[in-house]
Order: sequence, then structure tokens, then C-alpha cells
Amino acid sequence: MTDRMRRAVVVGNSDGIGLAFTRRLLADGWLVTGLSRRDNPIIVPTYAHHTVDVTAPDYPEVLSKAIDELGGVDLCVYAAGVGEPVDLADLDPQTRTFEVNLMGAVRTAAVVVPKMLAAGDGHLIGISSLADRLVSGEAPGYAGSKAGLSSYLMGLAAALRRHGVHVTTVRFGFVDTKMAKGTFRPLMIPVDRAVEVLAHCVRNRPVRVSRPRRLALLTAALAPLTRPH
Ligand SMILES: NC(=O)c1ccc[n+]([C@@H]2O[C@H](COP(=O)([O-])OP(=O)(O)OC[C@H]3O[C@@H](n4cnc5c(N)ncnc54)[C@H](OP(=O)(O)O)[C@@H]3O)[C@@H](O)[C@H]2O)c1
Repeated sequence: MTDRMRRAVVVGNSDGIGLAFTRRLLADGWLVTGLSRRDNPIIVPTYAHHTVDVTAPDYPEVLSKAIDELGGVDLCVYAAGVGEPVDLADLDPQTRTFEVNLMGAVRTAAVVVPKMLAAGDGHLIGISSLADRLVSGEAPGYAGSKAGLSSYLMGLAAALRRHGVHVTTVRFGFVDTKMAKGTFRPLMIPVDRAVEVLAHCVRNRPVRVSRPRRLALLTAALAPLTRPH
């Protein structure tokens, strides 16, 4: 164990879970770099921010340079995400949901995993959703992108486990942020609780965590009923 500061990158941290977890990492003594389209309000010497869209062609280069400036990466949290109700006359927002929620994470992994492999250690956490089991006629891009994200992250976890690099898929139900904007939000948890779940993941590096547990069980039981007949 070295006595250098641990280094984390949080992608999607101008708001919501990513912002709250960035604050927690800083309070726990991490050196943190964040990336999102907007700036964020954190001004401390142990934090650097880069404004970038994860769908932009130069995102991998910006991320890679940000990690080099940080001196390496021990932890990467992919918290960027969007979700839009379907408009059948315009499916572009559904396409964009895949680009942010799935391809943004895939492109992030393509940058951070080789760096972690070279270091022989590292932890990638991706924030997915209990919706990854559901078929959704209301927000098909959201459920579909999270299904792809969970599957890809768990595949990476299986591939990387013998190489010292850990990958965690975090499946949340409803978390009290601007994303949970609908009126049906059963068993919604506060952002502080989501931050505790992520802190637990950093300590224990599990492959998959689903919270709240009761909603996870309910979602698994109801998932077959969401498929069209
Ligand atoms: N809230 C929930 O109920 C819930 C439940 C399950 C899973 N989740 C997942 O948890 C993650 C965080 O969600 P949240 O609730 O914290 O939502 P949020 O408050 O809306 O925050 C989303 C973050 O993603 C960033 N982002 C969005 N598009 C981006 C892009 N193209 N490039 C870079 N950054 C981008 C946003 O920053 P900019 O706008 O500045 O780019 C923002 O910081 C998401 O993956 C979400 O799907 C949330």
C-alpha cells in the first residue's frame, strides 16, 4: 500500500448522484477529476473539472488527457445518463439515450481499462438501473441502454477479474434527483443513500449491486409481464 492519494475520475458529475458522490470522494481524501457538459460548483485544490460531452468525437482524448493530468486512475465512476419518454414521431432522443448511457460508458471503459490493466489494479463502477430487466414502451431507449450497459459491464467484470481490475454494475431503482421526474417513483431513495451504496462498492468491489433490494425483487418478478405478447 502506498501513501499517495487515491485518484478517481467521475463522469457525469455536474448534478445528481455524480456530483454528490464526487463530494463524498473528496471528503474521504481522494484526488478527483470530473467530466460533464456543464461545469460543477466544486472549488477545492484536490478537484479538477473538464467540460465535455461523452458523445463528442474528442471525448476519449479529453478523458485520457484528464487521467494523465491526474497521474493515473484508481477508480472511475460512470454516472452520466439521460432518459426521455418516447415520441414515436421523433426517435432521435432514444438514439441519444443509447449514445450517452451505453456508448459513453463503452468509450469510457476503452480509455480507462487499458490504463488500469497496465497498472495491474483499478475499479470501474457503472451506474445502471433496475430498468435493465424491463421492456419499456414509455422509455424504450432508457431500458434498452441500461440492459446493454449492465450486460457489458458484467462481461468486462468476468474478463478482467483475473487481471486485478474490478468492474461493478450498480442497479438503482428511483433516486431523488432531477432524472426521477415522473410521478410514479416507488421506494425512491435519497441521493445520500445512493452515495452510501457507491461508497460500499468502492470498499468491497462487488460485481453487481441492486438497490433498493425490495424493488429489485419486485422488478425481477414483474419483468416478464412487461414483454409485449
Ligand atoms: N435518478 C434515478 O432515479 C436513477 C435511477 C437509476 C439509475 N440512475 C442512473 O444514475 C446515473 C446518474 O443519474 P442522476 O439521477 O444523477 O441524473 P442527473 O441528476 O440528471 O445527472 C446526470 C449527469 O449526467 C451528465 N450527463 C448527461 N448527459 C451527458 C453527456 N452527454 N456528456 C457528459 N455528461 C452528461 C449530466 O451532466 P451535464 O448535463 O452537465 O452533461 C449530469 O451531471 C444515470 O446513469 C442514471 O441513469 C438514476
